[in-house]
Amino acid sequence: MTAEPQVFLTHSESETACLAQALASHLTGNEVIALSGELGAGKTTFVRALARALGIQETVRSPSFALILEYALPGGGRFFHADLYRLENSDQAIEIGLQELMGEGILAIEWSERAPELLPENHIAIRLETNPDESRVIMIYAPYSIRQVTMPDSTLG
Ligand SMILES: Nc1ncnc2c1ncn2[C@@H]1O[C@H](COP(=O)(O)OP(=O)(O)O)[C@@H](O)[C@H]1O
Ligand SMILES: [Mg+2]
Repeated sequence: MTAEPQVFLTHSESETACLAQALASHLTGNEVIALSGELGAGKTTFVRALARALGIQETVRSPSFALILEYALPGGGRFFHADLYRLENSDQAIEIGLQELMGEGILAIEWSERAPELLPENHIAIRLETNPDESRVIMIYAPYSIRQVTMPDSTLG
């Protein structure tokens, strides 16, 4: 994880999806992607677009009740989508088996701030914030530069 985030501004769900698509092109199969941000910030939207870009055709639902949902990747790998919103601490995240998924596939975790100490050092962090005008600031901490080809002008830094 690099020290400085790459910062993007998106004005619609589809712009956020383009950004997720740009990140997807870098993924190799065992990444932990930790998403944080308030309800409605766009975490599920981002993960859904990531799953789509990785070739998952099934409907990707929010795992806020199931806590963890699993999808098969077309290449044979696995994609896990977790949501820790209902958990109070990292002990509960351990109980639901979160750590056992690390290294078993791509693992996207919404509300990762509930269990920060469980995240591997090399996780990709994504922080989403809603602006008063409903646009979203999306900060990505990743070890490579992400090019969102459809909207390069809105890259802030
Ligand atoms: N720029 C944007 N990026 C992502 N979602 C957006 C954006 N602008 C509006 N939205 C809307 O905000 C909502 C985000 O919901 P969701 O992805 O479920 O958030 P979270 O999982 O963070 O609670 C969706 O209804 C989406 O259409
Ligand atoms: Mg969500």
